[in-house]
Amino acid sequence: MAREEPLLAPRPSSDGSSIRNEEEEFALLTGERTAQRAEKQRGWKFWREIGLFAWALLATVLVIVLAVVYQHKPAEIHGPSHDSKNITWGPGGKPTGKRNVIFMVSDGMGPTSLSLTRSFRQYKEDLPIDDILVLDQHYIGTSRTRSSSSLVTDSAAGATAFSCGRKSYNSAISVTPDHAPCGTVLEAAALAGYKTGLVVTTRLTDATPACFAAHANLRSYEDLIAAQEVGEHPLGRVVDLMLGGGRCHFLPKSQQGSCRGDDHDLIDVAGKNGFGYIDDRAGFDSLKGGDNVSLPLLGLFAGGDIPYEIDRRTQNEIYPSLEEMTRTALKALSKATENSEQGFFIMIEGSRIDHAGHGNDPAAQVHEVLAYDKAFAAALEFVENDSTPGVIVSTSDHETGGLAAARQLHKSYPEYLWLPSVLDKASHSGEYLAARLSEYLSGSGKDGKDSAKRDWVRKNLVKDGLGITDSSDAEIEALIHPEPGVGPSYVFADMISRRAQVGWSTHGHSGILSLGTDSLHLANSNIGVDVNIYASSPKDAWPLVGNNENTDVGAFLADYLDLDVNNVTKLLQDTKTGLFQSYDWMGDRLGLNFHSEGLDTYHGDFRKRSEDDCGCGATH
Ligand SMILES: *[C@@H]1O[C@H](CO)[C@@H](O)[C@H](O)[C@H]1NC(C)=O
Ligand SMILES: *[C@@H]1O[C@H](CO)[C@@H](O)[C@H](O)[C@H]1NC(C)=O
Ligand SMILES: *[C@@H]1O[C@H](CO)[C@@H](O)[C@H](O)[C@H]1NC(C)=O
Ligand SMILES: *[C@@H]1O[C@H](CO)[C@@H](O)[C@H](O)[C@H]1NC(C)=O
Ligand SMILES: [Zn+2]
Repeated sequence: MAREEPLLAPRPSSDGSSIRNEEEEFALLTGERTAQRAEKQRGWKFWREIGLFAWALLATVLVIVLAVVYQHKPAEIHGPSHDSKNITWGPGGKPTGKRNVIFMVSDGMGPTSLSLTRSFRQYKEDLPIDDILVLDQHYIGTSRTRSSSSLVTDSAAGATAFSCGRKSYNSAISVTPDHAPCGTVLEAAALAGYKTGLVVTTRLTDATPACFAAHANLRSYEDLIAAQEVGEHPLGRVVDLMLGGGRCHFLPKSQQGSCRGDDHDLIDVAGKNGFGYIDDRAGFDSLKGGDNVSLPLLGLFAGGDIPYEIDRRTQNEIYPSLEEMTRTALKALSKATENSEQGFFIMIEGSRIDHAGHGNDPAAQVHEVLAYDKAFAAALEFVENDSTPGVIVSTSDHETGGLAAARQLHKSYPEYLWLPSVLDKASHSGEYLAARLSEYLSGSGKDGKDSAKRDWVRKNLVKDGLGITDSSDAEIEALIHPEPGVGPSYVFADMISRRAQVGWSTHGHSGILSLGTDSLHLANSNIGVDVNIYASSPKDAWPLVGNNENTDVGAFLADYLDLDVNNVTKLLQDTKTGLFQSYDWMGDRLGLNFHSEGLDTYHGDFRKRSEDDCGCGATH
C-alpha cells in the first residue's frame, strides 16, 4: 500500500541530518569528545590485544581454580537494589486480587514544561487562571533522577531505574553497571501471566520502551533491541502489544524504508512468533478502538518517530494520536485479560516532549505536553470505569533543555513575562518547517535567486508556519545558508523562543541575532533537576508520595503487582556464554575507558573547549 510519509524519513544509524550520529551520541552521553576517543582507541588497540591475551590466560587458570573451590556454590544473584524502599503495604491498601498497572513516562518533561503548557492552554482557550491540566490535579511527588555514571541521566539509565528498579550508567538498556542484565517489571509480569504492552510516539526501539523488553549494553543497538522485542530474547516473547514508530529497524536492509544493518526480517520473525502486524492508519482503524484486537500485535506507524503533535494534527489520516493509541491499547489489554486471573502491565510514553526540549522548540513542546495530558486523562477514565482495579503512575526520566519561562534578551534588566501568544501563532514545529525548507531548496527553489528564496521562505515558512511577520534578514539568511552546526530547525525554534521570551539553559548571547555556533548546537542537553510524579490516586501510589529516588518508582511498579524482578534477573544471568562468561546477546561490551559508575571529574574542559571541539562534528 502506498503510504505517504511526508514528514520524517526513517532515521538510519548513519543519518547525518539534524539528528546526532552514534559517535556524537556516545560523546554526549559519556562526556567524551569523539575525536579524543578515536585517538585513544588507536593507541589502545595494541595494548588491548596484549592485555586480552594475558587476561585470557589468567582467566583460564582462575576459572579452573574457582570451579574446583566453589563447585557447589550457586551462581551469585544480585540482591534487591540498595536504594529501593522496602514497601509493606499501607494507606489505601493494594488490591489483593486481579489488578492492572498503567505506567506513563513523559520523556524529558520537567516542571517548567507544565507551567508553560498550563499557561499556553489558558491563553489559547481563554480559561481562568485556576484552570489547570489533568496532570496537575494528580501530582503526588517528585523523583531524583541521577544515574550511576552521572548527575545528569539519559533516557536509558532513567528507564532502567523504572524497569529494573536499579541505577545504571547512561546508555544502559536494563543492564547493570557491571554489564549484567537485570530483570524488568514487564518481563516479570509476562512470566507471571500478565498481558503486557508498550505504546510510544518515538521508535519502539528507543531507550525508554527498550528498557522494558530488551537488554543491551548500549542504547544505540536498536537493531538488536528490535529483535529482542519481537521474541529473539532469552525469555522468548515478553510483549503482547506494541504500538508506535520505528518500523525501519524491523525491516530487512534490502527492503525500502529499512535502517537495519543486516537482512534480518523482523516482521517475518514477529509473524512466526504469533504477532499480527499493522503499519498504517487503516490497520489501526481496523482495531476498532481495541474491540477488534487479537494479541500479540505489532503496530508500526512510522519509519522513525511519529510526527510532533503540532504537525500530526493535520495528518491525522496518516498517524494515530497518543490518546487514540492509549485508549485502543487499554481496551485491547482489558479484553484480553477479561477471563484471566491476572491483569496487565503497560508502559505508555509521551516520547517526543524530550525531542522538543532537545530542539529547543517551545511551540512543539506545549502541544506534546497537551497530547500527553489527554492520554493521561484517557487512562484515568479507563481506570475509573474498569471493573478491575488498577493504578496509574506517571513520571519523567529527566528534564530536557533547561527550559525557562522567562528570558533576558538584552543587556537591560529583563521584563517579567513570557508570551504564550507567540506559541499560539505557530502552526508547525521547527523540524517540520526545516523539512519543507530542504524540499524547497533541493526542488522548486533550487535554481532561484537568493532574493526569490528569501521571499519564499519568509512567506511560506516563517509567516505561514510560525506566524512571525517581523523576521530579520539575518534570520532568513541563517535559514537559507545555515552556519555549520546550526540547522534550520534550530533557527526556526530559536525565532519562536526569542519572541515568546522562553529560555533554554544554553541560549545565545544577547544581541539582535546571535546564532553563533556555541549558542545553539549544544542547546540539546538533558538536565539534572527533579521531575514530578503523578498518580491516579495518592492512596494507591502512597509509597511514591513525596520526594523519591527514580529507582523507588521501579520498585513500586513491581511491588504493586507482587512481582519479584530478581527472579527474572536470575533467569537472565543464566545465559552467560564463552570463556569470558559474557552475555553475547546484549551486543558488544563497551570500551575499556567507559565509566559506568562514579562521577566524572573536572578536567579543564572550560578552558580547553573550543569551536572545533564542539561535538557537533561535520554532520550538522
Ligand atoms: C522488609 O521488611 C520486612 C518487615 O519489616 C522484613 O521482614 C523483610 O526482611 C524486609 N525485606 C528486605 C528485603 O529488606
Ligand atoms: C478485525 O481484525 C481483523 C484482523 O485481525 C481484520 O481482518 C478485520 O477486518 C477487522 N474487522 C473490522 C470490522 O475492521
Ligand atoms: C466509561 O464509561 C462511560 C459510561 O458508561 C462510557 O461512555 C465511556 O466510553 C467509558 N470510557 C472508557 C474509557 O471505557
Ligand atoms: C521468586 O523465586 C523464589 C524462589 O524460587 C520463589 O519462592 C518466589 O515465589 C518467587 N517470587 C515470585 C514473585 O515469583
Ligand atoms: Zn529521555
